[in-house]
Amino acid sequence: MRYLILSDLHSNGEALAAVLSRVRRRHYDRLVVLGDFVGYGADPNGVIDRVRHLRRRKILVRGNHDRVASGLDPGGLFNPVALAAARWTAETLTAANRQFLADLPVGPIEVEGRFVVCHGSPFDEDAYIFSDVDAAWSFRTIGLDLCFFGHSHIPSVFTLEPDGIGVDVVRGGRQRLKLETGRRYLINPGSVGQPRDRNIDAAFALYDGDEGFVEFERVPYDVARAREKILRAGLPGALGDRLLLGA
Ligand SMILES: [Fe+2]
Repeated sequence: MRYLILSDLHSNGEALAAVLSRVRRRHYDRLVVLGDFVGYGADPNGVIDRVRHLRRRKILVRGNHDRVASGLDPGGLFNPVALAAARWTAETLTAANRQFLADLPVGPIEVEGRFVVCHGSPFDEDAYIFSDVDAAWSFRTIGLDLCFFGHSHIPSVFTLEPDGIGVDVVRGGRQRLKLETGRRYLINPGSVGQPRDRNIDAAFALYDGDEGFVEFERVPYDVARAREKILRAGLPGALGDRLLLGA
């Protein structure tokens, strides 16, 4: 079984289109989305519609932006830029897509006995996994040896080994990680719509559950068009100028 793993799409229709185009001829059986379909970007309905209409079995969890944009949470903990984007998103969503977000399951979810998926961390969808200490708490929470998470927007691998926890940021183009038996992994595929690792290309991963490897990949997309749409929508300029560009 092969899984396409996406996270933090953030209403970036151009980035999602580039990713789906890149994998069109690659085999995968399931689509996994680790939350934050919306927020920051200008194409929330386009992104949700593309995911909804993809003819694959889907395993989806909600992110913190999905929770706020769908009206389940007033967003009291959001910074002003995120809150402005969430409010704009809430007004822009169709009723069907708002309901889609509101109905998304909350992680963690176990998938087919193979791995766990969550947004921020297995113990709290709003918590970030940046360090070995964050990872240690997460490893204690999950019952399987593999967990995919998002939220930090940084492609990364935390490996529980006999002598401690390895912390690796995944850099560059396509990278293959062979999963070793006896080790445990927390893996972030990076963000489709708003990378935060100073690489503007959309990030995603493919997991082959039979062969036991994860492939990380980056794909360029039409950043200028996505930025233009953000500015035209009246979303905070910083989104187009800084966050979207990953600077
Ligand atoms: Fe996010």
